Amino acid sequence: MAYISDEVIEEIRRHFDLVEVVSFYIDLKKVGKNFVGFCPFHSEKTPSFTVSPEKQIFHCFGCQTGGNLFSFIMQMEDCSFPDAVRLLAQRAGITVEPPPSTPAEKLKVQARESLQEMYSLAQKYYQALLWRSPQGKEVLTYLQRRGLNKQSILEFQLGYAGNNWQGLTGELRKRGYDLQIALTGGLLGKSSTGRYYDYFRERLIFPIWDSRGRVVAFGGRILGPGEPKYLNSPESPLFNKSRTLYGFHLALPHIRREKKALLVEGYMDVILLHQHGIREAVAPLGTALTEKQLSLLRGRLDKILLVFDADEGGETAVLRGLELFKNEGCRVEVAQLPPGLDPADYIKERGGEVFRSEIMGSARSLTDYRLHAIKKGFDLAGEEGRIGYWKEARRVLLEIQEALEREEYLKKIAGEIDVALEVLRGDLENIKKGSFPEERAKGKKVQAQEERKKFSLKELVERELLSCVLHNPRYLDQLKKLEINAEKFTEEPYREIAATVFQLEQQGKEISAAALASYFSDPEMHKLIVSMALPDNDKEDPRVEKIFRDCSKKIRALCWAEERKRLIKSLQNTVSREELSAKLQRIRDLKKWEEELYRSGEGEDFDV
Ligand code: CTP
Ligand code: MN
Repeated sequence: MAYISDEVIEEIRRHFDLVEVVSFYIDLKKVGKNFVGFCPFHSEKTPSFTVSPEKQIFHCFGCQTGGNLFSFIMQMEDCSFPDAVRLLAQRAGITVEPPPSTPAEKLKVQARESLQEMYSLAQKYYQALLWRSPQGKEVLTYLQRRGLNKQSILEFQLGYAGNNWQGLTGELRKRGYDLQIALTGGLLGKSSTGRYYDYFRERLIFPIWDSRGRVVAFGGRILGPGEPKYLNSPESPLFNKSRTLYGFHLALPHIRREKKALLVEGYMDVILLHQHGIREAVAPLGTALTEKQLSLLRGRLDKILLVFDADEGGETAVLRGLELFKNEGCRVEVAQLPPGLDPADYIKERGGEVFRSEIMGSARSLTDYRLHAIKKGFDLAGEEGRIGYWKEARRVLLEIQEALEREEYLKKIAGEIDVALEVLRGDLENIKKGSFPEERAKGKKVQAQEERKKFSLKELVERELLSCVLHNPRYLDQLKKLEINAEKFTEEPYREIAATVFQLEQQGKEISAAALASYFSDPEMHKLIVSMALPDNDKEDPRVEKIFRDCSKKIRALCWAEERKRLIKSLQNTVSREELSAKLQRIRDLKKWEEELYRSGEGEDFDV
């Protein structure tokens, strides 16, 4: 972080209100002094993600993550500390100067920016071809035949890559872009003779955007029959397929407002759904839905609806991933279309209203859908089929967390396969025990406890003292009065935190968890610092006062004991008589001080 000054980082941090920033990603409700919501970083049923507007920090009581503005962005956008700073600086309109330090890093940032420009230029280039070239007119006709109106074609920035090997290549060259960057970024290809050429040719172009609406990739659909049907941009510094949902930035305001999302499979489906007023529709990019894609939606939804082709299997990874949402209290439903139709075709034929009532209205719950799909694979008339069905179905039941819901389906299946409910329930219980043996769980707990015990007393004391300082900086003055300076803190990571705290104090800067965290780029440090600023004790809480008194004594005693031990050890190598007697005197003094300190009162009060 050598190249972004501490002052600028602090300016950026102060520019934002953490509550507002977090609210952009998840919904928060005010509870007392704080705001709470569902944690975007782990799955939970009751909201335990807490943001303190006063302290400008967040903490999740469920998964123990926490931090300040920067760590929130780092985790949410999955980026490094400098990237989080830059991203926020950009949003705030604050210039971060000078640019990156190492030449290599500078080049990387420049290449990324240049690729971004090229994508945006390419989008305009393809769009112009669609609207202005004679062949483009034919593609427009095709789009109209598929049911798209002019507004949708414009809103989704559709384009046409002509049958030209040097079109975009020429444009980029003319403007002086580095074609090698365009090549690695997936806009161009390169022949064996070293000649660059257009990667997309004679295709309908669907721009793909990042969550902020910048073009980062293209999907190119073939016009007419042929393979592959879609040519998609490769992953690049701009584009990560498994983290992108098509149409996300357009759907987001609607998803937030309606607290529901609709997942379909294709580009065309998304566009036509939006056109017909179903604007919460998004699609994964030709792959199974990934955890990262789902995390774009997490914490925002009451309901998620998947619209699947009729012939889709029931046990895809997608569906299992969606159990996660259910556990967060989000309803997950699956709707099916008549055989042979996709959402785009259906809505074009029958309109948005019918799609809403017939398709969306007849969606089944996720479990229902999964069981239904499994059942289709077995002949329940025979014994073998019934057992086969149960074996598959019970895996679905085991994933259900709500006992009531599980019981409901258990009853249904018992009826379907004509087996007593108790037998099925018993079978399920046996499997549960087998897969989560209690013994194993217990073993883990003991291990965790032992892990915790490894903290030395010195570590605990250092942590408590710094925690007091973070609750109220006046404790820092007291530390100084007691001659407890940064050097007294010797245990990592507290040594480093203390060094920073004392340094900040010297520079007259704010000492708070939120400000302090910015001096560390490791999110683990942010977690730690925030956890030290918790719980929300009143600043004048007498307990804090007492902890401070005890620990400030303890740390001095521990330092003396340390020194004494060191001196005793060094005696055997001490030859000079003066030195020896000086050392012995010091050892006696240290011992005396220690005893006095304990005699003076609560020195031993601190229990571990
Ligand atoms: N897809 C892909 N590569 C392919 C085929 C499909 O990336 N070779 C992705 C695209 O995102 C596509 C989605 O999977 O939108 C659904 O595929 P499909 O149903 O075949 O295409 P549609 O987009 O529905 O195209 P159309 O309706 O025009 O046939
Ligand atoms: Mn389709």
